Amino acid sequence: MSERISTCNEQLDTLLDGGFLRNSMILLAGNPGAGKTILSSNFIYEGALNFDEPGVYACFAETRKRLIQDMKKFGIDFEPLIRRRKVEVLDLSIGSETEVQSALNQIFESITTLRAKRLVVDSIAAMAMGLETEYEKRHLIRLLYRLILKTGCTTIAITDIPWNSEKIGESIEEFVADGIVMMEHNYNNEGNLTRRLRITKMRGTNHSKKTHSYTINAEGLDIEI
Ligand SMILES: Nc1ncnc2c1ncn2[C@@H]1O[C@H](COP(=O)(O)OP(=O)(O)OP(=O)(O)O)[C@@H](O)[C@H]1O
Ligand SMILES: [Mg+2]
Repeated sequence: MSERISTCNEQLDTLLDGGFLRNSMILLAGNPGAGKTILSSNFIYEGALNFDEPGVYACFAETRKRLIQDMKKFGIDFEPLIRRRKVEVLDLSIGSETEVQSALNQIFESITTLRAKRLVVDSIAAMAMGLETEYEKRHLIRLLYRLILKTGCTTIAITDIPWNSEKIGESIEEFVADGIVMMEHNYNNEGNLTRRLRITKMRGTNHSKKTHSYTINAEGLDIEI
């Protein structure tokens, strides 16, 4: 069996038969506010803290400062790990194609410096913002995938699913990715927000085929097995 890497969420590890495959690229696709950033931050934080696997969090969708501040509420304190050079949070906002290349270079440099084993890209849409054609976006995804294979990092690539849509991002990423975890929400008959998680693709893994309800609390995501 190929080597697994913990997602740092015990329940998700169970649903994935132990975790992600090492050196794979996983799409974490979800509605706005589904908990994508919380789950991914914990993957980096606990990965560094509990498994001594340094990690890089590439922030395209929000600022570094905001991410660090927001995650403290979930017991995720990046700052000591940043000081110990076990974690890097990169502030990367994109305006043009040249900046995309520079962002990829910065990610590569941080991974090399930290000898990172884990990477999060938050999000693919924000990263591809300056790109106009489908060809350019496809090219970017392939460059990212190549970077991941080259560095050996296990990567979560966050992808947005707009409200009331079944479509993942640009619909390019899903074919390249080794796995897809979907996080969606609805309102039930009582008008309450309900959340559900599904694993729709995971190469080489006997994963759960069910729909799992989950909630978000101060400890992060609590997924029903
Ligand atoms: N203290 C809390 N307790 C429970 N749930 C919370 C708490 N704080 C935030 N949340 C929930 O977590 C959500 C934010 O999680 P997160 O930032 O990980 O989502 P996201 O999927 O990354 O969103 P976006 O698409 O905007 O980037 C909020 O929309 C809210 O529903
Ligand atoms: Mg987010």
